[in-house]
Amino acid sequence: MTGSAAAVDRRATAIEHRIATEGLTKVYPGGLRAVDGLDLRVRGGEIFGLLGPNGAGKTTTIGMLTTRVVPTGGVALVDGIDVSADPVAVKRRIGVVPQTNTLDRSLSVRENLLFHCRYFGMSGSQARARADELLGRFRLAERGDAKVETLSGGMAQRLMVARALAHAPAVLFLDEPTTGLDPQSRLALWELLGELHAEGQTILLTTHAMDEADRLCERVAIMDAGRILALGSPSELKRSLEAETIVTMQADGDLEVLAAALGDVPGVTSTDVHDGAVRAFAGRVAGLLPRLVLRAERAGTTVTDVSVTEPTLETVFIALTGKDLRE
Ligand SMILES: Nc1ncnc2c1ncn2[C@@H]1O[C@H](COP(=O)(O)OP(=O)(O)OP(=O)(O)O)[C@@H](O)[C@H]1O
Ligand SMILES: [Mg+2]
Repeated sequence: MTGSAAAVDRRATAIEHRIATEGLTKVYPGGLRAVDGLDLRVRGGEIFGLLGPNGAGKTTTIGMLTTRVVPTGGVALVDGIDVSADPVAVKRRIGVVPQTNTLDRSLSVRENLLFHCRYFGMSGSQARARADELLGRFRLAERGDAKVETLSGGMAQRLMVARALAHAPAVLFLDEPTTGLDPQSRLALWELLGELHAEGQTILLTTHAMDEADRLCERVAIMDAGRILALGSPSELKRSLEAETIVTMQADGDLEVLAAALGDVPGVTSTDVHDGAVRAFAGRVAGLLPRLVLRAERAGTTVTDVSVTEPTLETVFIALTGKDLRE
């Protein structure tokens, strides 16, 4: 393909994809390869998650996509525009909620929104109308005149999201949006992001919380050491790997005997006795549960209860990297 044909092809892809990267790379001065050849496509209206542990390269990736970090290799298009060629145009089309609080503490809640709207070219009356609309929408109306520093963590984060959306960006970026929030504020933010997604907002977020990625994201890229290890919907990711299913069985009878018996069932990798129940660890095998119950009965025990713990994104991550996300 000639250079211009490649460019046309890229643009065609970008029309369909709000974010498109090819071989996107960042090597920091000193030689650290923080992001290493990232290929990413995020469709319009999609809510997409970059999931990875500390230092995986999530913030560096968002930095490049939002023009704050200059790539050292590859291409990144946001809303069809090359971040390196025209960062100013990209900035107009994106909203960013960074990992740290960047609200202006010398301003009130409303002023934070007003200044942002004015910065993006709205007239005074347009900015006031938009700020009031956002304050209502994000349940901050009663705090409009308050100083930013008096807001709770959850409110401050809602204000950051409101500000990021003030100029109706094509893509909303959020870097670890719920880290440090209390559980209730975290749920409230999930709900808010779910609403934005339902309205068609394209969202890319980073997280190191697997439950967050699982619950919120249509597709997830699992990142470690600057590379994507796996990419797909949470359920695809969980299906694709030999992630472990745990079957916990309560029964009357000798549990040690039961554990040994269940260990013979095909697909079971190991068993143990834990908290007065037998646990069988297994790959995802069709028909596993009835076979386990049958085997238990043949071993002379009466099964009183069975529960199944499905693989989670955590077990997927462990299967991919051999380590825990929190390590
Ligand atoms: N300005 C910089 N100069 C040199 N190295 C950097 C710079 N910023 C980040 N790094 C390094 O690049 C790697 C990726 O960092 P990055 O902040 O992108 O990871 P992250 O996935 O966002 O991590 P966290 O979960 O801690 O936010 C890390 O090893 C980090 O120390
Ligand atoms: Mg980060």
